[in-house]
Amino acid sequence: MNEAEYRPGLENVIAGETAISTIAGGLQYRGYRIEDLADHATFEETAYLVLYGELPNQNELDAFSGRLQANASVPPQVIEVLGSIPPTASMMDVMRSATSLLAHWDAETEDSSHDANLRKSERLLAQLPVVLAARYRLRQGKQPVAADPSRTLASNLLWMLHDEPPSARQIRALDLTLILYAEHEFNASTFTARVVCSTLSDLHASVAASIGALKGPLHGGANERVMDILLAVESAEAASEWVQQAFANKTRIMGFGHRVYKEGDPRARYLKSWCEQLAEETNHQDFERNAQIIEDAVVSQKGIPPNLDWPSARLYYYLGLPIDLYTPLFVVSRVVGWSAHVVEQLDNNRLIRPRANYTGELDRDWLPMEGR
Ligand code: CMC
Repeated sequence: MNEAEYRPGLENVIAGETAISTIAGGLQYRGYRIEDLADHATFEETAYLVLYGELPNQNELDAFSGRLQANASVPPQVIEVLGSIPPTASMMDVMRSATSLLAHWDAETEDSSHDANLRKSERLLAQLPVVLAARYRLRQGKQPVAADPSRTLASNLLWMLHDEPPSARQIRALDLTLILYAEHEFNASTFTARVVCSTLSDLHASVAASIGALKGPLHGGANERVMDILLAVESAEAASEWVQQAFANKTRIMGFGHRVYKEGDPRARYLKSWCEQLAEETNHQDFERNAQIIEDAVVSQKGIPPNLDWPSARLYYYLGLPIDLYTPLFVVSRVVGWSAHVVEQLDNNRLIRPRANYTGELDRDWLPMEGR
């Protein structure tokens, strides 16, 4: 192995081929610009596009939405486990465990054919919002709310969480974040899914592993940590002081920076105006002002632009969503991308097994127990 080929973190290494999305010249899913999808598509249309490669016609969309609605429930045994996990458990760990549990009740878990994987992808996409809402309610001692088959995925999620009908505006805002989070090329969690299925393991195992990868604050976990910052600063002065202190302490500021978007994340640019509007409507202008002060300082003094987690965290806060649901909401959306990558990987599989530069010692003499 040539040491010169080694790049820590596989930065800029081409680790595979994909036709699902590209970040070259702006983010595109299956050749459609993310801004166009966010302007015109629903999350269901976007999910269909990512999974099947083409925008659905009306019949295909109706059938797809119908299948998602029909699968929006989980076995009672899973609900029972969700209610018995200690209330302090991380919601991301619960999502991961529930994905593993759901595998036991899926009749096609062991079938990794192209078509079975698409069917399982649809089932998981329909079931994960049910898991999230059920767990949220059970840990508060409330009963889960059943999905309403007349609602879209985003609308149903809000309905199942709060047991009251969401407004059209709330539904659209959540739907938008689900569209923006759905897919993102070879990020850490997606690469994880591809590594797992490349051993010919199954889709549920791949998604469970991806959820583990997404949990970390350098990846999906950042959207929850963003709120630590915004809740810690109550005034414009405090925001300025916080960010200067962060620079002085060399603190990694959550919601800023990206491995592949050094000039800015197009998803963050898109969501910003929605944050401003929702802040206005929900009387959170102080949050927007403080966020802008921090953003201006990080961009102008460090040259590091915000990523999607910076606005999405605020948007979820303005929607009144509990903070520890933010990364699980990312799961509810990104399961689409992970699943599409599993299908694509297995359509043309080669075991992912890279090499390492060995940095340890060699040829040491055996040391008997009494000599250690
Ligand atoms: N705050 C402060 N400094 C930063 C940040 C940040 N958020 N991001 C990068 N830097 C600095 C970093 O310290 C380094 O400085 P120096 O060269 O002086 O050591 C320089 O910028 C390059 O950073 P890097 O860590 O080599 O860049 P990377 O490509 O490995 O990092 C990142 C990408 C996302 C891990 C990093 O930007 C980060 O930790 N951001 C905060 C966590 C975050 O918001 N994650 C969400 C990512 S986007 C959505 C998602 O995938 O979930």
